[in-house]
Amino acid sequence: MDSTHDLRSWNAALYDARHAFVFEKAADLLELLQPRAGERVLDLGCGTGHLTAKIAEAGAQALGIDASADMIAQARSNYPDVSFEIADARRYRSAEPFDAVFSNAALHWIQPAEEAVKSISHALRSGGRFVAEFGGQGNVRQIVAACGQAVEAVFRQGNGASNPWYFPSIGEYAALLERNALEVRYAALFDRPTSLEDGESGMLNWLRMFGGPCFAGLNDAQAERAMQDAVERLRPHLWHDGQWTADYRRLRVVAVKAAA
Ligand code: BEZ
Repeated sequence: MDSTHDLRSWNAALYDARHAFVFEKAADLLELLQPRAGERVLDLGCGTGHLTAKIAEAGAQALGIDASADMIAQARSNYPDVSFEIADARRYRSAEPFDAVFSNAALHWIQPAEEAVKSISHALRSGGRFVAEFGGQGNVRQIVAACGQAVEAVFRQGNGASNPWYFPSIGEYAALLERNALEVRYAALFDRPTSLEDGESGMLNWLRMFGGPCFAGLNDAQAERAMQDAVERLRPHLWHDGQWTADYRRLRVVAVKAAA
């Protein structure tokens, strides 16, 4: 384990306790999926399993996969009757096809994105559907900029604002899906300003939970200093009336696997 690991690896308990908005905001994405009894549904990047469990509650045979062993352990403990596996979405291959692949707030973490899309396409039967939402072009733009500026100002490193995540435009992602036999039926890019929990600590908690990639190359103490600096840079923009708001923009897509 390297010295940066403790601060920036996934902490499933913290995720469940303080970042419930990630899965609570996905109710309408589940409506778009409309899981049906008996269907096989893959939840890609399932985290602690709350949405996989909702899919299973609808009567579908749901399988949640996530690359984080911590997240899968928490998912299994949260929902012992639901199926979960540790798996890398870039290489996932199932022997049995799925009727649907679902994914919420996960695909911006997975690069190269095309590897994940190949897995999704491979997992679906002909006519099966892919329903997903994740960060789209411009997502957390102000947060990324503040982190870059903080690293540069405090440690004279970095170029000031490099985005470590995958936040594509509709055009870019639609082309990627089409190259992989997935016909796009619906795509939307929209702002979703998101209130963070825990009042004053909300932005620092968010950075500790998710911001690790912006502070790559720093040790824990350095990253903590840079995060605190970033919080102060963000305060004039994203702190209002005792509430932090993250500048989220979502890309939502529905696509159907073309016949072979
Ligand atoms: C998001 O859900 O948009 C997001 C979460 C963590 C890091 C970056 C983006």
